[in-house]
Amino acid sequence: MRKIRKAIFPVAGLGSRFLPATKATPKEMLPIVDKPLIQFAVEEAVAAGLTDMIFVTGRTKRIIEDHFDKAYELESELAAKNKTELLRIVQSVVPKHVNCIYIRQAEPLGLGHAVLCAKDIVDEEAFAVILADDLIDHQPGALKQMVDAFNARGGSVLGVEDVPKANTRSYGVVSGTQLDARTEKVTAIVEKPAPEDAPLRSTAAGDVALAVVGRYILTPKIFELLQNVKAGAGGEIQLTDGISALLAHEAVFAYRFEGKRYDCGSKLGYLKATIDFARRHPEVGAQFEAYLKALTI
Ligand code: G1P
Repeated sequence: MRKIRKAIFPVAGLGSRFLPATKATPKEMLPIVDKPLIQFAVEEAVAAGLTDMIFVTGRTKRIIEDHFDKAYELESELAAKNKTELLRIVQSVVPKHVNCIYIRQAEPLGLGHAVLCAKDIVDEEAFAVILADDLIDHQPGALKQMVDAFNARGGSVLGVEDVPKANTRSYGVVSGTQLDARTEKVTAIVEKPAPEDAPLRSTAAGDVALAVVGRYILTPKIFELLQNVKAGAGGEIQLTDGISALLAHEAVFAYRFEGKRYDCGSKLGYLKATIDFARRHPEVGAQFEAYLKALTI
């Protein structure tokens, strides 16, 4: 089996939940303290051994290209002022062996359509999809864990976690049969079902659904299937519907990765990530912690 080299980052979405901040700035460029969400996503892919980062972009997203490009003026200014640490930070945004590739999704027709836009670049190999607004905090990263699961199982792998029954309308929800503590073989997947229609599991903490959260490793068969997917939930071409079609051809696995996921597509998730990362930040963490303590007295 060939090594997974390519990651698709669909970044053409409107980011309407963060307006007005995202009026002219991509939501993927929102920082958690000082690092943009998209950089966390790329670092996770690089740490999983991937080398080709494919960004499916849209209007107002050119800043993402600039972020991963060389910044001549900034670098020469930092060098001239002997700001070596800042220079190192700027130069290590993307390692030298990594290629960044940009393609445009002219119309926001859905996640499935965004992935399909990368078909000719990915070609006949398995690839990853990372949604940057799902920030997952763990070493080793969620994608690395999923690459290992892909290599062990030999089929597409979806990153999943339990979500409360009330939240099923925000996710692709899977049913499956348990293979081991972290892995299930997917038997069905449905995009954003109503809680009453979603496959549920009862746990001590109440009813939950097994939801796909922003990490996928997919075989190239998905492209052929996505070409025939009609608009589904929300009138969009859904990746979930392509995966549902894939189930008729290949085994697909759901993998409960280790790590804390922050839904940075929502204000609350974004704030939680900001606080947790700020508390451990090498520069401001200790002072921030003291500030929080003072607030809660
Ligand atoms: C997308 C997918 C959904 C998945 C979710 C994870 O939805 O369509 O299946 O569960 O990402 O974050 P979105 O959040 O883009 O509406």
